Amino acid sequence: MKCTVMVFWTLLWLLYSPMSSPLRTPMAGNQITSFIFISFVLGQAHSADNIFSAVMPQTVTALTGSCVQIPSTFNFSNFHIKMTGDLSERNCTTVFYNITMNHSDRYYFRLEIVAGVFRPTFNPNTANSSDSSKTVKIIVRDSPQPPELKLSKPQYVMEESTVNLSCSAEAPCPTQPPTISWSNIPESASITTQLQDKPDKTQSVFSYMTFKVSYKDHRKNIICTATYPRNTPNDSTVEGNVTLQVLFPPKETHIIITPSVGTNVTLTCKTKASPSNELNYTWYKRGEETPIAWRKKINLNRTQTASYYCTAQNKHGKQSSEDVQLTDDSQSGFSHLVIHGCTGGLFAFVLLSAGFFLLYEVNI
Ligand SMILES: *[C@@H]1O[C@H](CO)[C@@H](O)[C@H](O)[C@H]1NC(C)=O
Ligand SMILES: *[C@@H]1O[C@H](CO)[C@@H](O)[C@H](O)[C@H]1NC(C)=O
Ligand SMILES: *[C@@H]1O[C@H](CO)[C@@H](O)[C@H](O)[C@H]1NC(C)=O
Ligand SMILES: *[C@@H]1O[C@H](CO)[C@@H](O)[C@H](O)[C@H]1NC(C)=O
Ligand SMILES: *[C@@H]1O[C@H](CO)[C@@H](O)[C@H](O)[C@H]1NC(C)=O
Ligand SMILES: *[C@@H]1O[C@H](CO)[C@@H](O)[C@H](O)[C@H]1NC(C)=O
Ligand SMILES: *[C@@H]1O[C@H](CO)[C@@H](O)[C@H](O)[C@H]1NC(C)=O
Ligand SMILES: *[C@@H]1O[C@H](CO)[C@@H](O)[C@H](O)[C@H]1NC(C)=O
Ligand SMILES: *[C@@H]1O[C@H](CO)[C@@H](O)[C@H](O)[C@H]1NC(C)=O
Ligand SMILES: *[C@@H]1O[C@H](CO)[C@@H](O)[C@H](O)[C@H]1NC(C)=O
Ligand SMILES: *[C@@H]1O[C@H](CO)[C@@H](O)[C@H](O)[C@H]1NC(C)=O
Repeated sequence: MKCTVMVFWTLLWLLYSPMSSPLRTPMAGNQITSFIFISFVLGQAHSADNIFSAVMPQTVTALTGSCVQIPSTFNFSNFHIKMTGDLSERNCTTVFYNITMNHSDRYYFRLEIVAGVFRPTFNPNTANSSDSSKTVKIIVRDSPQPPELKLSKPQYVMEESTVNLSCSAEAPCPTQPPTISWSNIPESASITTQLQDKPDKTQSVFSYMTFKVSYKDHRKNIICTATYPRNTPNDSTVEGNVTLQVLFPPKETHIIITPSVGTNVTLTCKTKASPSNELNYTWYKRGEETPIAWRKKINLNRTQTASYYCTAQNKHGKQSSEDVQLTDDSQSGFSHLVIHGCTGGLFAFVLLSAGFFLLYEVNI
């Protein structure tokens, strides 16, 4: 072997990655920076540089009691670490097992060939630790982050349109991915769930829900729940939600008459529509073309016997209610009385006649 140049992998994980947001800084405080150096004694080091710098994450977030996979990393006996990548293919993907808070740190991997054998070494807290571009930072959290929900369309969706809702939950430990479940699922929904690589080669579980929006889904709060199995007594469950705002023309338009008894009545035109603040109501008397009123409620007197209906309209369309028939209770009540009176009179007359007839017979 002619190769004698020792080369450090340039992992190029910059610490100003999106993950090192202020949210996570509390962990950085008590950090004892340690490094695992892996250096290659290889002639074609430049190519190794290029390959690995392109595929490794800058920061990974791990969960206590679970594991974390670092795409392109290493197997050390003093840590529960296992290299799952094939080194001959320049793949140093490594899994850190049984993560504790103590694993929060920056790691630097170094691989040497000593007497023709690869030897990984672990150098904690070196002065070169400041060279953050060569480290991968593992951020350990005690509870997982809530899943991320994304709608394929803006929040306001027309009814009957097809919507794609995705829920993604980070899966830092590929052998213990989170399971995803949904609640308040729309009627027509179909769901597919899969483990997917993200551009930085870390993985997430993605669950896609595709459905045709119904007006019944308006203001429905769809919840996505991710459950992480862990080597700790408790699993961890986190959830995210999204509230649908559906746009639709008036539905279920109908009339309510209040009170149910009495001469003065109020007819109210009820409907469901979205947006509901720009609703127009129009009242008609059946058989007449011209509207009788333009408001939600009208007051009528039961003596105004007729059929009435209303239409509700918003910018997406309009709908008419069924007719309601106003009947004059007092008049129908009177006619009943008249009929009863007549029948009673007739009955009395027959009785009386019978009586007289009997009397007449006896007298003879
Ligand atoms: C790395 O892991 C393999 C497989 O688990 C094991 O055989 C090997 O001894 C480990 N190497 C070190 C240095 O721990
Ligand atoms: C590296 O190894 C890991 C674990 O075996 C594997 O999942 C991944 O696909 C490999 N990466 C490449 C680039 O081959
Ligand atoms: C992780 O810890 C559990 C006990 O907490 C142990 O049974 C298991 O072997 C450990 N796994 C590894 C890979 O070290
Ligand atoms: C973290 O490290 C400290 C000292 O090294 C040790 O006392 C403690 O038990 C460790 N905690 C965990 C959760 O491993
Ligand atoms: C830091 O790295 C330089 C080369 O990059 C090396 O000469 C020096 O010895 C290293 N310092 C330590 C403490 O490892
Ligand atoms: C929903 O998203 C998935 C994944 O991106 C895609 O395969 C599918 O075609 C999408 N469906 C619709 C209706 O946009
Ligand atoms: C785990 O479960 C135990 C008892 O079942 C409970 O006391 C503890 O608070 C739980 N921890 C978390 C983080 O939920
Ligand atoms: C929905 O998520 C928001 C934060 O995004 C939260 O404040 C709210 O409590 C959640 N609602 C439900 C019903 O889970
Ligand atoms: C019926 O309504 C009229 C006005 O619409 C009102 O003047 C009258 O007092 C009401 N009568 C009853 C019994 O409520
Ligand atoms: C109902 O209408 C009739 C005729 O239109 C009127 O005579 C009567 O006073 C009205 N009753 C009420 C309570 O408004
Ligand atoms: C409601 O009625 C008003 C006045 O007639 C009109 O300007 C407006 O455009 C109507 N709105 C709808 C949604 O039909």
